[in-house]
Amino acid sequence: MSAASVPRHIAVVMDGNGRWAQKRFLPRVAGHKQGVEAVRTLIRAGSERGVEALTVFAFSSENWQRPADEVSFLMDLFLRALREEVQKLHSNSVRFRVVGDVSVLGAETRSLIEEAEALTAANSRLCLNVAVNYGGRWDIEQAVAKATAAGESAAFAQWLSFAGQPDPDLFIRTGGERRVSNFMLWQLAYTELFFSDILWPDFDEAELASALAWFAGRERRFGKTGEQVRVLSTTPV
Ligand code: IPE
Ligand code: IPE
Ligand code: MG
Repeated sequence: MSAASVPRHIAVVMDGNGRWAQKRFLPRVAGHKQGVEAVRTLIRAGSERGVEALTVFAFSSENWQRPADEVSFLMDLFLRALREEVQKLHSNSVRFRVVGDVSVLGAETRSLIEEAEALTAANSRLCLNVAVNYGGRWDIEQAVAKATAAGESAAFAQWLSFAGQPDPDLFIRTGGERRVSNFMLWQLAYTELFFSDILWPDFDEAELASALAWFAGRERRFGKTGEQVRVLSTTPV
C-alpha cells in the first residue's frame, strides 16, 4: 500500500455496544466497557500503520437523552479512562485531545482533560481526538459565535474544533446503521464513508484492515473528473 493510500485522519462512530451486550444477555453498559478494548486496538493498529489522526465519537450531544444510569456509567468510564490510560498514551507519543462542549462535565473530568492535553501536547506519533458531548451542529454554532465575536468572516474553519487538522479521509461506522448521527458535519464533506455491520466491541485489526483496503481502492475526485485525477496522479512532480 503506498503512503497516499493510508488515510491521514480516520473518524470513527463506535456504534453497537448496547446490542453487543444484549446479544449476550448482559446489561448495555457491559458493551461500553468492552468497547474500550476495541478503542485500544484501534489506537495501536492505527498508529502502527502510520495514521496521523484518529477521532472517536464517545458521547454525542444527543446521548444525554439516554437513561440516567447509562449516561452516568459512560461519564464514569470516561473519567476512569482519563485516570488510567493517559500515561500509556503519553509513553506511546500519542497526542490526546477532547473535542466537544466540556463545560458541562464534572470538575475532576475537566481538570484531568486539561492535564492530559497539556502533558501530551508535543507528542507527534498520532493525534487522538475523543469526541465527548460533541455534535457537528454544536461545533458549527460555537464557531459562528466565536467568529462573530472576533468580527471575522474569513477563514471561518479556524473556529471549528478541528482547526489545523486535516479533514478525515476515512469515516468508519460500526453497528450496521448507515448514518452520520451529527458527527463532524463540516469535516466529512469529502470523506470516504465505510459502514460495517460489526458491533463496536468486536472491532479488531482485521476489520480495520478491511476498511483500509476498501479505502485504498477509492478514487478521490474532489469535484474533478476521473480523467483529470488520473492524469494528475501520474504527472511527475
Ligand atoms: C455506541 O453504542 C456508544 C455510544 C453511543 C455511547 P450504542 O450504545 O449506541 O449501542 P447500540 O447502538 O445501542 O447497540
Ligand atoms: C452515535 O451513536 C454516537 C456515538 C457513537 C457516540 P448513536 O447510537 O447515539 O446514534 P443513533 O442514535 O443510532 O443515530
Ligand atoms: Mg447506537
